[in-house]
Amino acid sequence: CGRLPVWGEMSIFEHTVFSGMRPSGRLHLGNYLGALQNWVTLQEEYRCIYCAVDVHALTDIQGEATKEIRPNVQEMVLDWLAAGIDPEKSLIFVQSQVPEVMVLHSLLSMVTPLGWLLRVPSFKDKVRQLDATEETVSYGLVGYPVLMTSDIVLYKADTVPVGEDQLPHLELAREIVRRFNHLYGPTFPEPQAKLAEYPLIIGLDGKQKMSKSLDNHIELASDEEATRARVLTAFTDPERLRRTDPGRPLICNVYALHKLFNPDKLDDVYQQCTSAQIGCVEDKHLLADGINNALEVFRERRRELAERTGYVADVLRDGALRARVIARETLAEVRDRMGLSEIVL
Ligand code: AMP
Ligand code: TRP
Repeated sequence: CGRLPVWGEMSIFEHTVFSGMRPSGRLHLGNYLGALQNWVTLQEEYRCIYCAVDVHALTDIQGEATKEIRPNVQEMVLDWLAAGIDPEKSLIFVQSQVPEVMVLHSLLSMVTPLGWLLRVPSFKDKVRQLDATEETVSYGLVGYPVLMTSDIVLYKADTVPVGEDQLPHLELAREIVRRFNHLYGPTFPEPQAKLAEYPLIIGLDGKQKMSKSLDNHIELASDEEATRARVLTAFTDPERLRRTDPGRPLICNVYALHKLFNPDKLDDVYQQCTSAQIGCVEDKHLLADGINNALEVFRERRRELAERTGYVADVLRDGALRARVIARETLAEVRDRMGLSEIVL
């Protein structure tokens, strides 16, 4: 689609941002508040690259279910664009369409001790979640953070806007970079995480991080009624059994969400909840109103974008073409540093 054919036009910025999300369908409030909002803001000050990491999705989707990946990419990128990611400012692409990242993954895996990977907390959690053992999980799952490091360093990015759950991965990315730079000379910057103001959004169960797999999420793009219905299922103060019991906002996730969606009503909600003037149901309706108001523009924009046939595909094609130019250059440098022969064309 002809926008920004040369990367150089963007290089007025000193720093490069890279971030990715797995194409697991439509995004939820956790993705939005923990990462996407930050992605949008950073576009003004950084050279930004945002990636739909479909190869990472293969670490937990297999066989027939992989048919969902392509439509999921489409839905997720629509969410990005509707939230304000601007293809004129940012490079947006699908991970597997820049296959150089998989070569870099193999090369970086040569400098990554297995012990580092086995110690990553999210790896241990995932093994448990899959009801597997370290013996039975895929080699790809163990290497998840190496692929993530490859995503980032392929573009020599130094800033990575993510939610709090990704911090251990970035710690490991820095270790891999330090090791590579030590062995082969300074090549990559050490990537730093950039957290949003609220880097961990708790789900409707009031306990665990909001996530699609735990089904405790609110989708960004769902309509007002569906959002309200979801909010009404939220857990509140478990000790508030009767309408007349005073509530404890400080331990209630609905109150935590009011901070984000009803900042101007916060004092009133606190006072009315602790004095049992409003009940939890009323309180949740207030929250649903706040969320629906905040997302009105997003939803409208998403509807408009969804009607533009071929738009997402064009944006992604353009992004992949431009990303490959950078990727090839970095990979040639890495091959050279690692003593590999030049590619014969
Ligand atoms: P994922 O859907 O796991 O690929 O996550 C995409 C991005 O959203 C990552 O930067 C995550 O850290 C962030 N994220 C996902 N869930 C949450 C949450 N509940 N709170 C804050 N950030 C989140
Ligand atoms: N692991 C990230 C997640 O689950 C997704 C991801 C893949 C990523 N590669 C990345 C995030 C590179 C930031 C940078 O959300």
